[in-house]
Amino acid sequence: MRVIAIDGPAGSGKSTVARAVAERLGLEYLDTGAMYRAVAFAVLRAGGDPADAAFAASVARTIALEVGPDRVTVDGTDATVEIRGLAVTRAVSAVAANPDVRAELVARQRDWAAKRGGGVLEGRDIGTVVFPDAELKVYLTAEPDERALRRAREADGLDYGAVAADLIRRDRIDSTRRADPLTAAEDAVRIDTTGLSVAEVVAAVTDRL
Ligand code: DC
Repeated sequence: MRVIAIDGPAGSGKSTVARAVAERLGLEYLDTGAMYRAVAFAVLRAGGDPADAAFAASVARTIALEVGPDRVTVDGTDATVEIRGLAVTRAVSAVAANPDVRAELVARQRDWAAKRGGGVLEGRDIGTVVFPDAELKVYLTAEPDERALRRAREADGLDYGAVAADLIRRDRIDSTRRADPLTAAEDAVRIDTTGLSVAEVVAAVTDRL
């Protein structure tokens, strides 16, 4: 099984780079952040509280979740746009800090890769928890200002100050939570993408294979 793990904080360039690397290698790509977002979406849609751990865990275990490169569906409903919205973005850190939600999604991620003979997976814990034996582990970083700028550009109409504040808040929660905090695997290749083009980062990754 050929697995490439790409981890790093929000706005570090993971999605763009993971997609390009997958295409280059002829592998499929999985955005695991979209899975945590989809669970947060389903909790909110059911009128639940994202901080209600038992409820979020039961939602994670029971929803039908399809995460494709361009479309995310939750119980058959297209949630591609909503999972990027403000409500889900606010709720997702609490859901992602829930150990039972994580156990369920990690199992689904392993299944996804097993069915395909591997793939390029991006997230926060792919190299440390989901696939510690991945063929290549990459940890992307970028200066906080650049990460906020990228996110503000992606999300049309979002104010830079609000994006920067939210990014700092999520970094803090993601890195300090007890269950699988965001951290680089010891044997990960670290790449600071600040000021680099997508092509330069993709080359830096594929050069390691
Ligand atoms: O990459 P993103 O912003 O879409 O991720 C959404 C949230 O999910 C973020 O708070 C981090 C969390 N996440 C995680 O805990 N583990 C992963 N493998 C992927 C994302």
